[in-house]
Amino acid sequence: MNAITKNEAAQLDAPLINFLLNGRDVLGRATETLIEIAKREGVEIPHLCYMKGLDAVGNCRSCMVEIAGERVLAPSCCRAPTAGMKVSTDSERALRSQKLVLELLLSDMPETAYTRHNEVDAWARKLGVGKPRFEAREQVAHDLSHPAIAVNLDACIQCTRCLRACRDEQVNDVIGLAFRGDQAKIVFDMDDAMGASTCVACGECVQACPTGALMPAREAALAVPDKQVASVCPYCGVGCQLTYKVKDDKILLWKAVTARPTTGGCASRAATASTTRTIRSA
Ligand code: SF4
Ligand code: SF4
Ligand code: FES
Repeated sequence: MNAITKNEAAQLDAPLINFLLNGRDVLGRATETLIEIAKREGVEIPHLCYMKGLDAVGNCRSCMVEIAGERVLAPSCCRAPTAGMKVSTDSERALRSQKLVLELLLSDMPETAYTRHNEVDAWARKLGVGKPRFEAREQVAHDLSHPAIAVNLDACIQCTRCLRACRDEQVNDVIGLAFRGDQAKIVFDMDDAMGASTCVACGECVQACPTGALMPAREAALAVPDKQVASVCPYCGVGCQLTYKVKDDKILLWKAVTARPTTGGCASRAATASTTRTIRSA
């Protein structure tokens, strides 16, 4: 489908702005964020709470950049360019901040991996963050009450990507961030077990989670698939694209493809329910 959204159309209408990114002249639009422009220009900035397609909330602070003349660093996922701005993503100050945030988050990660693609680990490796110097937080119990989704909040960094995916993409609004300080945590409905909540198992939150805190049940995401097979969701007629991950001729799990025919999340809740259902025998 070639149609563009209203937001994308508004972006095209916004005037171009010239500014400096790591000493290089670049062009961006006032409707874009620094992190988006940097990505287009081939400049990587660590990010965790930012996810393309979800509203930016700027809560993890891993994407901080230095802007000449400004007293404090700015989160590049929430900041638009202005003409003549001088942005540095790799100055000593910006890098020190990015690494410290990653080290703090890393110190709270459990020893057990729940996914082969933990974004905190990946960014920490890229930035050369070693063993954290900080004590780990008190760990919370797992919630395995849901037949399709494992909740491992010991790996949760409270980025709220799952919350925004559930509320804004799927319009289900099951997930919340409750309590304060070191008691803050992701909850389902009124802090119910996920299996007893109003969750419809669409899987959008699992796909959004960067750390494995929400993962397909029975550790299906840890198995290395032999192959991936492109297909379409069998549920409704929209034809959302899926990728099946297959091992030993059995489907481990399947994931929605981002550039699917629907403009946002799946048109049908049950369609994405497939994305996290683990099937041990095809
Ligand atoms: S699976 Fe879907 S409905 Fe359930 S919590 Fe996640 S996003 Fe919300
Ligand atoms: S469960 Fe995952 S997506 Fe949700 S806040 Fe925690 S780390 Fe982020
Ligand atoms: S990615 Fe920018 S604050 Fe989290």
